[in-house]
Amino acid sequence: MSYENIKVETRGAVGVIVLNRPQALNALCTPLIRELGQALDGFEADDAIGAVVLTGGEKAFAAGADIKEMQPKDHMDVYLQDFISDGWERITTCRKPVIAAVSGFALGGGCEMAMMCDFILADETAKFGQPEISIGTIPGAGGTQRLPRYVGKSKAMEMVLTGRMMDAEEAERAGLVSRILPKAELLDEAVKVAGRIAGLSRPSVLMAKESVNQAYETGLAEGIRFERRLFHSTFGTEDQKEGMAAFIEKRKPAFKNR
Ligand code: CAA
Repeated sequence: MSYENIKVETRGAVGVIVLNRPQALNALCTPLIRELGQALDGFEADDAIGAVVLTGGEKAFAAGADIKEMQPKDHMDVYLQDFISDGWERITTCRKPVIAAVSGFALGGGCEMAMMCDFILADETAKFGQPEISIGTIPGAGGTQRLPRYVGKSKAMEMVLTGRMMDAEEAERAGLVSRILPKAELLDEAVKVAGRIAGLSRPSVLMAKESVNQAYETGLAEGIRFERRLFHSTFGTEDQKEGMAAFIEKRKPAFKNR
């Protein structure tokens, strides 16, 4: 499929999606969001793909929702179109892991999109922020909900109320970013990490992701019960037998994703 606002490639068992509207710092216009959804649908349906990397350009991962598209819209436009809900949440429904590789600006919807991914790898130029307050609105793609879960109330509130950006080091300290990598290595390293995940037992990977995400949806006792049931169910897979036998026999496991 050919795309106008993104580039899509596969590297081994990893699907790579590159946001590609550099003239607008990858502002997340509706056609881009639609294409992103199509690309994710394709990777989800492709058995050969085990994980996805979502990245942007050198200057920006994405500088937010498209302000030029939004500016003329009125309340009924956005309400009736269910603006943002439609399409944006596709990342969060992806069963395969999606890793954000962030270089440059991840602002507004760009920061929110990175936070929808399973974890964020960044280079030293990454800057995260929710600057919507400066343009007369508030975050609308989950920023007020996900940012506090990543970095706690105080920092999230400060960022949302002032629009201040966090650099990569602060973002790593605060827990928004899992690791900072050198700029030249960011994409290759993200693909390597995704490739490692893609090489593991697919059912275990899907269950592990589902179980961690449950921590954000439920109380502790219920979450632990959920985890325990999924843990038990891995014992019904051939991959659990193979993985543990391989450990005991001191060899590499040959997972069948069954
Ligand atoms: N929407 C549309 N166009 C954007 C954009 C955006 N979010 N961000 C940047 N651009 C465009 C600029 O208009 C400019 O286009 P022209 O060359 O046609 O003028 C081009 O990208 C380059 O941008 P700048 O000249 O501004 O570049 P800069 O280096 O001077 O500044 C920046 C970079 C600090 C990121 C600045 O572009 C900026 O502040 N962008 C807007 C950030 C923002 O407010 N994001 C939140 C959007 S609202 C939102 O996301 C709602 C939600 O929760 C879903």
